[in-house]
Amino acid sequence: MSLGSKSSLMTIEAMKKYFDQVENINLKDMEVTLGSKGLSILYNGNPLQKYNGIYAKGSFRYAPLLRSITTAFYDNTYMPIKPNAFTIGHDKLLTHLALQYYKVPMPDTYVVSSIDAAKKILDQVNYPIIMKFPHGTQGKGVMFADSFAAASSMLDAIETLKRPFLIQEYVETDGSDIRAIVVGDKVIVSMKRKAVFGEKRANIHAGGKGEPIVLDSHTQKIAVKAAKSIGAEICAVDMLETVKGPVVIETNLSPGLQGITAATKIDVADKIAMYLYKKTKEFTEKGKTTETTKMFADLGVKTTEKSGAEQQIIANLDFRSERILLPKIVSDLTKFDEGDEVVIKAKKGNISLEKI
Ligand SMILES: Nc1ncnc2c1ncn2[C@@H]1O[C@H](COP(=O)(O)OP(=O)(O)O)[C@@H](O)[C@H]1O
Ligand SMILES: [Mg+2]
Repeated sequence: MSLGSKSSLMTIEAMKKYFDQVENINLKDMEVTLGSKGLSILYNGNPLQKYNGIYAKGSFRYAPLLRSITTAFYDNTYMPIKPNAFTIGHDKLLTHLALQYYKVPMPDTYVVSSIDAAKKILDQVNYPIIMKFPHGTQGKGVMFADSFAAASSMLDAIETLKRPFLIQEYVETDGSDIRAIVVGDKVIVSMKRKAVFGEKRANIHAGGKGEPIVLDSHTQKIAVKAAKSIGAEICAVDMLETVKGPVVIETNLSPGLQGITAATKIDVADKIAMYLYKKTKEFTEKGKTTETTKMFADLGVKTTEKSGAEQQIIANLDFRSERILLPKIVSDLTKFDEGDEVVIKAKKGNISLEKI
């Protein structure tokens, strides 16, 4: 599900090699309704059919729509990008907050509520600095100021736009950055981009040139951690190299594939498609085996056990949007009904649930 960019079409073509059926759904034909009748997702006016997996992506303007659609299907459909990742990943401030939370290194970044507060920061920082809009892409929302005078006049221009912005430490890399594409637990491809002469932004769209680079394991780990921090199994991570190691400046949920494929000669779309197939299959099979009877057998629990006897279940915790999802067998054993009033006692490493 995408806006039908060339990169999305490349991925769709690659997916056809693995999946029995692949559909190309245009995000622009989707509609979400909320309210008394529940959350409903329409595609060209009709309810969207059930899929084993949906790889949804699009630009930041579609973040609310993407979040709504993925929220509706997340529990029963494999999706490589968590619903809240669409709001986090398409906003550089929220991305930096997530990176901070998970201790992923990044340049010092300032968020301010007013131009006056921003000017105070401009008095204190070392130059040059970067100012950027949280929603910019392709280098278009990134500004470079090499002095207080330059930064201050930029601020006045920003003020007229009435848009939030970030002030960021400038990391000297001679106009280069590193783009890594993370798929699952791995960096599947990476390139070093070098800005054209006189330009500070290394984006390919800003004229930057990419060349393949093999990342050391530390840098790879940081890229994978950045992707996990925002809740994406597939995304691009932009980093700048410093003497103290890489710092992450951006994650991109809908990265362009043409530039990096041409620069590295690696079939990135194919690697993404292969991963999607593997994960969709795993998810579908897991779903089937959670049917109660099979679960009972798997877990070695006898269904004939006297009701009331306590059962021990050993399982791996499953999370949906940061909420714990308990195995179905727990519902069967506890006979809890939706809406039951319960006392939840929780502390580190322990939780109990008792019906009132
Ligand atoms: N803090 C920084 N220090 C130095 N260069 C930066 C910094 N932030 C961004 N850049 C340059 O600007 C480019 C675009 O910035 P980025 O944050 O990735 O936004 P975009 O979404 O526009 O790609 C980067 O690839 C890098 O070359
Ligand atoms: Mg970038």
